Amino acid sequence: MNEELLTVEALRVCYGESEVIGRLSLSARQNEIVALMGLNGMGKTSLMKALIGLLPARAGSIRLSGRELGGSPPHERVRHGLGYVPQGRMVFPTLSVEENIKTGLGDKERRVPEHLYRFFPVLKEMRRRRAGNLSGGQQQQLAIARALASRPRVLLLDEPTEGIQPSIIKDLAVQLKQIRDQEGLTILVSEQVLSFALRVADRVLVMARGALVHESPRESLDEAKLGALLSI
Ligand SMILES: Nc1ncnc2c1ncn2[C@@H]1O[C@H](COP(=O)(O)OP(=O)(O)OP(=O)(O)O)[C@@H](O)[C@H]1O
Ligand SMILES: [Mg+2]
Repeated sequence: MNEELLTVEALRVCYGESEVIGRLSLSARQNEIVALMGLNGMGKTSLMKALIGLLPARAGSIRLSGRELGGSPPHERVRHGLGYVPQGRMVFPTLSVEENIKTGLGDKERRVPEHLYRFFPVLKEMRRRRAGNLSGGQQQQLAIARALASRPRVLLLDEPTEGIQPSIIKDLAVQLKQIRDQEGLTILVSEQVLSFALRVADRVLVMARGALVHESPRESLDEAKLGALLSI
């Protein structure tokens, strides 16, 4: 049950000659929610993009259940069990809610699996509406549902709380834990909101200038230290 599912070793990512991730290693177990915290520009999105294959890794390895994914294109990583929700959600605004979710379905499926609408009932109510007309929080739910449509084992979630009001952020934490519990999912979520990370995560990592500078399980976490690491 608690085996290591996602293993990243000595990952290096560059934009041209400038290094943004330097030899970073991390892992996540089955059923675990790991929060990746860090201030603006510290490399969270670059790491997520490298994990899903939108940015090439210069060195290092990315393994899912022991299978090397580094070098594979994003759609193959999705086929092997990675799901990705980009920062800013990136739903297709002129497509309906249902059409958006369908863009995430695997090759053999035609219909939106009912369990997605159970996790996010509001999306069922709004399934014929244009995604561009949804609120920020609803669009975030839609982006997560679309990523879950391919039935991933590991969900990469990049700053889901950005631009979302506090009460909706709380709901999102509850929903993510429910999904984790029911689907046996592993979640790596990047975050700047400490209260959300504390609510949702089993383990918290802190990233600064492309490296991990702190790691702590939720239960033994030193909030003062974390706050200091995350203040400018
Ligand atoms: N396309 C790009 N070309 C060159 N440099 C980039 C590019 N995208 C990001 N960077 C730089 O890489 C570094 C890490 O950026 P990244 O977007 O990964 O940070 P982040 O932690 O996700 O920040 P935020 O919290 O603002 O989303 C920053 O210094 C940024 O300026
Ligand atoms: Mg980012």
